[in-house]
Amino acid sequence: DLYGSSRQNSDGIEFGCAAERHELVDGMAKTVAPTTDAKPLVGDRDVSGKAEQVLSPADGQTVVGTVVNATSELAKTAMDVASQGFETWSRRPVEERAEALSKMADLLEQNRDRLMALLSLEAGKTLPDGIAEIREAVDFCRYYADQANALFGEGMLMPGPTGEENRYRLRGRGVFVCISPWNFPLAIFLGQVSAALVAGNAVVAKAAEQTPLIAYEAVRLFHEAGVPMDVLCFLPGDGAVGAALTSDPRVAGVAFTGSTETAWAINRSLAEKRGPIVPLIAETGGINAMLVDATALLEQVCDDVMMSAFRSAGQRCSALRLLFAQADVADDLLQMLEGAADELALGDPRSPATDIGPVIDVEARDGILAHVEYMQDTQTLRYQGKTPQGALSDGSWVAPHIVELDRAEALTKEVFGPVLHVVRYQAKDIDKVLETIAASGYGLTLGVHSRIDATVKKVVDRLSVGNVYINRNTIGAVVGTQPFGGSGLSGTGPKAGGPAYLQRFALEQVVSINT
Ligand code: SER
Repeated sequence: DLYGSSRQNSDGIEFGCAAERHELVDGMAKTVAPTTDAKPLVGDRDVSGKAEQVLSPADGQTVVGTVVNATSELAKTAMDVASQGFETWSRRPVEERAEALSKMADLLEQNRDRLMALLSLEAGKTLPDGIAEIREAVDFCRYYADQANALFGEGMLMPGPTGEENRYRLRGRGVFVCISPWNFPLAIFLGQVSAALVAGNAVVAKAAEQTPLIAYEAVRLFHEAGVPMDVLCFLPGDGAVGAALTSDPRVAGVAFTGSTETAWAINRSLAEKRGPIVPLIAETGGINAMLVDATALLEQVCDDVMMSAFRSAGQRCSALRLLFAQADVADDLLQMLEGAADELALGDPRSPATDIGPVIDVEARDGILAHVEYMQDTQTLRYQGKTPQGALSDGSWVAPHIVELDRAEALTKEVFGPVLHVVRYQAKDIDKVLETIAASGYGLTLGVHSRIDATVKKVVDRLSVGNVYINRNTIGAVVGTQPFGGSGLSGTGPKAGGPAYLQRFALEQVVSINT
């Protein structure tokens, strides 16, 4: 059914259990060298070009594989090829398209150790993050497969007068362009692609420049799962390739996850292309906040803040950036947070002892550190952790930081890394706090820690934030349980992993027959 109430999400592993942990680590070590030489996949075209090395962000020197990037010209060829592929794919029964997604889910599970090795080597994912990402990818495939079976196909008979049959149905739109980020190089990449495919579209997927290898592996698995080569084309490359795709008049829709700036640029490009008017499904960033009042359980707050702000080195669009602490508890809370941050282990992402891996590349590192430096000059730096030395010293490391702001407005942009900003508020000023959060224009995640129901209700009602988490952490939305996505500057919706997602990839058609 549409809400998937009978389905189950994939199994994870119990990290507390030494046997399960060892099995994973051994499996990753034994996996055929995870090196992948990625290149564009465009139907049966033999694409060649200059191969560039992909280096591990953990040490800045391990060669994970190589990639041949696509050109803007190839983007046009991919649109030709996928336009052809669409013709047959869209006419296939939905059950066949859904079957390909189910097969893909199985293949992801069978290839877990190899994908895990790639996720940590190429994207710096820790073991728990890698496992969570593979699970999310598997869940997207199975969830969208089930949904497609419920939504597409013969369609729905609409009520109407006798002597007439009115049938409402959904079908593919054409060639969907999917542009995905490096922070979930498997789950978000595959979530977009699987939704577009199962809805009956052909896809041209442009993976993030930083993580072409894992995306290449995913596309090859899709092909193995039964998606024809001309129905799913793959283009690794930079923003120019994305721009060539979104300006093509044949684009039938775009699914994009990344920055708000890029979403604006895509919107402009779609508006200017003088072709059909098509949907943009954008998931962007946020200055995600959490409110902690004096009734909150501080030990719980501390755990949840560590998880929300520092897990994945703060490189989640859902991550906590700005913590509003009621003045009465702020000192105690800050002290606890500083103590807890000091316990976090930075190191080789493949080690079970590691809590935080590297940030994605040196450019990202330098940007975050420049922000920290600015904050150090203008605000109060309360805590700064240590980065790994020795063999990992050349990696792109950013230690956890806690900055106390004198006012919330001092944080003007999303800083995509392990930097938590804390600001105090007086209980009487809660309305102003809510106004400040609303005024940012973002609306992705929000945390509230309070034991007062009226406070919780007020916050939830006042703010149009997509995912609100009460008395818990604010990351790791679960497919089918916490459909994910924001509003305003944070995105267009519909929510990924939710009951309204697939419809946006589809064209509605009503056939009325005089019987
Ligand atoms: N879906 C992810 C999360 O909830 C997005 O960053 O954390």
